[in-house]
Amino acid sequence: MKLMVTGGAGFIGSNFVRYVLDTHTDVHVVNFDALTYAGNLENLAGLEEDSRYAFVRGDISNPDDVQAVFAQYGFDAVLNFAAESHVDRSLHFGAQAFIQTNVLGTQLLLDAARKHDVPRFVQISTDEVYGSLGDDGRFSEATPMGPNNPYSATKAGADFLVRAAEHSHGLDAVITRCSNNYGPYQFPEKLIPLMIANALEGKPLPVYGDGMHVRDWIFVLDHCEAIDTVLRKGVKGEVYNIGSMYDVPNIEIVKLILKHLDKPESLITYVKDRPGHDRRYAMDNTKIRTELGWEPKYTFEQGLKTTIDWYLANGPWLEHVRSGRYLQYYEKLYGDR
Ligand SMILES: NC(=O)c1ccc[n+]([C@@H]2O[C@H](COP(=O)([O-])OP(=O)(O)OC[C@H]3O[C@@H](n4cnc5c(N)ncnc54)[C@H](O)[C@@H]3O)[C@@H](O)[C@H]2O)c1
Repeated sequence: MKLMVTGGAGFIGSNFVRYVLDTHTDVHVVNFDALTYAGNLENLAGLEEDSRYAFVRGDISNPDDVQAVFAQYGFDAVLNFAAESHVDRSLHFGAQAFIQTNVLGTQLLLDAARKHDVPRFVQISTDEVYGSLGDDGRFSEATPMGPNNPYSATKAGADFLVRAAEHSHGLDAVITRCSNNYGPYQFPEKLIPLMIANALEGKPLPVYGDGMHVRDWIFVLDHCEAIDTVLRKGVKGEVYNIGSMYDVPNIEIVKLILKHLDKPESLITYVKDRPGHDRRYAMDNTKIRTELGWEPKYTFEQGLKTTIDWYLANGPWLEHVRSGRYLQYYEKLYGDR
């Protein structure tokens, strides 16, 4: 089975590449990634010599790049992880890059998958497309889309394009919508690695607003296993929500991290809230559990401990990301090829 994984140098994509190669001996992966600031080939260190793995630097929103990779490889499935993924960037730097990659890039992949008769297309989407919840209730696959920030608006746009390609052109496409991920290799602009990294350096831990924004946290390897399950067993045209159904306010996570690292709560610094900050997300994962038989394996305590231990054991990775040195890794590895 030859898989095209877009965005495979990012946080979830790189965990997925490792997971799928470890789990299935008959799988080959082509990692197609533009290496934006979020793409880090150090996440895949050690795989370069694996004959089942290939890296192609390319942009999903560039028709020539997309055409070339589809012409070179006959894919059995495309898994589209590539995205501009950080809400704060979509608010501070504008939506253009998000529209370019998340909307236009997804459409180019859909067109190429149709043209080359790729038997399966998996779109990696997010719970954020549903908008915000009140104090109770959970998002189901039937919840209407209601994105509230430019990032989630472009992810919702991509979902509609995937739906249209399936409905109008018969492409075998499925969509996964997952809740907040955490785990190894996450770029330290996101909540959990940012708090771990700052706590390790004894720096203030910035918490938005009152810290009571609730998210449904899932360990990244549970997400990877769910995607692999949908790839193999998902029904054409269906959407699958993924989450661990473990909802917790941000401030509690920050306090847990400080406790694990034996650092004082006085490091917590409340900062002005993000504009339009969604109050609560929570996923109903009944469909994927009952129809496809997937279950999350990690409790939050296990996942958080594994994550903190990983950051403690991988100081150089964190240092390279924070100093920008990871950007040189591509040149070192592929510069003369
Ligand atoms: N992180 C989460 O909690 C979460 C939750 C649910 C869904 N998702 C979705 O999962 C996917 C992966 O998220 P992540 O957190 O790993 O993101 P990330 O920002 O860590 O990685 C994104 C990757 O995509 C690559 N990329 C960006 N633009 C590209 C382009 N035009 N062409 C090719 N490659 C490009 C980057 O170089 C990077 O390697 C995204 O689609 C995101 O919307 C993330």
